[in-house]
Amino acid sequence: MAAVRGAFTNKLGFILAASGSAVGLGNIWKFPFEVGLGGGAAFVAMYMIFCFLLCFPVMVTEIAIGRKTQKNPVGAFTALGFKNWRFIGVFGVLAGVLILSYYNIIAGWAFGFFFEMVQGNFDVSNNFGVFTSDIVKVCIYAVIFMSFTGYFVGKGISGGIEKLSRILMPTLLLMIIGMVLYSLTLPNAFEGVKFYLIPDLSEINISIVGGALRQAFFSLSLGMGTLITYGSYLSKKDNIVSSAAYITLTDISIAFIAGLMIFPLVAFINQGDMSAVASDQAGPGLIFVTLPQAFATLGPTLGALVGGGFFLLLSFAALTSTVSLLEVPTAYVVDELGITRTKAVLFASIFIFIVGIPSMLGNGASEFFSNQFKITGSTDFLSFASKMTDTMLLFGGLCIVIFAAYVWKKENLNAELANGYEGYQHKGISKYLDFTISFVCPTILAILLVLVVLSNFFGINFF
Ligand code: TRP
Repeated sequence: MAAVRGAFTNKLGFILAASGSAVGLGNIWKFPFEVGLGGGAAFVAMYMIFCFLLCFPVMVTEIAIGRKTQKNPVGAFTALGFKNWRFIGVFGVLAGVLILSYYNIIAGWAFGFFFEMVQGNFDVSNNFGVFTSDIVKVCIYAVIFMSFTGYFVGKGISGGIEKLSRILMPTLLLMIIGMVLYSLTLPNAFEGVKFYLIPDLSEINISIVGGALRQAFFSLSLGMGTLITYGSYLSKKDNIVSSAAYITLTDISIAFIAGLMIFPLVAFINQGDMSAVASDQAGPGLIFVTLPQAFATLGPTLGALVGGGFFLLLSFAALTSTVSLLEVPTAYVVDELGITRTKAVLFASIFIFIVGIPSMLGNGASEFFSNQFKITGSTDFLSFASKMTDTMLLFGGLCIVIFAAYVWKKENLNAELANGYEGYQHKGISKYLDFTISFVCPTILAILLVLVVLSNFFGINFF
């Protein structure tokens, strides 16, 4: 038997930690560039619909499974008596390992950019390719970031992950609001806001719909058992449904605010012309290439301050997410193999670091991993890994709702949700969740999963 399991001190601690998991590079780096590629506000609208209609119910389900069983994603299915469904958890742990393997690299870039900005080295953006192919530098930053992550996960739930989130989440919010207020005062800011908020519905096609759904799943940390794991540390007295609502709202709000911070900056450097965003400036380079140019125009002191602040904020957001990703394999190893948390963290982080080596090499350092990796229509290993994991998350989410509604059964799910939520069964929200979990999520997720796989892996697009 393993040592006593950790627990969050209270509901707020849980909400902050889970929001910390949700809010990350997905919100501040990926969301804006997906919006840029996806034609602006049309993407934003799709994303929000998916969050409420599909993701919120999946989140509630994951947390409930975790809290009911007090287990990691693999052990949870066994504990409920459905050993055959353990594959969902195994898949989740694998997805988590793969996500963290590349996420940690990008987090390392962000952290590296913090140092470049405070030194006033804005030129690094013109040479982004040089930065990412400098394998020694990238490797050092990745090691540093993984070590921070391992350190906090090693300290456990309340003393590590929760404490970190209690400090970093409010800090992040203040920093991001400060940045928004600042960027809105820049010349041409309004052109950026317009691009971001006025939808052009003619832009909607399958890759945008699929992209918005993948983004929603990724951003809310769904589909791989992060929230099963975090839920397993939540007290029976706490309300799962309202917690999930707070987490969803926090995540959406911060993604939304991140857009308000970034697009005015982009409009500022392009003197109001947003057409470039849809082409060359969009994509992974959006914040690493475009933004430092904006910081450079502010002059050395202010530029270093604002630019450094931005990348520090990004690193903080990433850290509360990397800890959640590392917690999943750690909890699995601790629960199932009964070894100590410290050893589990050490083992998991080194393993994940090694899995991340191709992603680290795949941005210039190695020709093979950078340009020859032509599976799934991508050319580099990191994009390949991210497409794979996005698909795995949708698959995981689909399996989780089917499992909860038809295998574990709704009565059991509802009974768990009623803990900490008196009279849950008689509330309108329970009807909404019953309906979405049983019908809407399985149907729409299944259809979209097929469409996304056809589009991503076979290049077949229906609209
Ligand atoms: N949601 C985080 C982000 O937006 C990343 C993340 C953390 C994640 N844990 C996850 C994504 C689990 C998918 C699954 O940056």
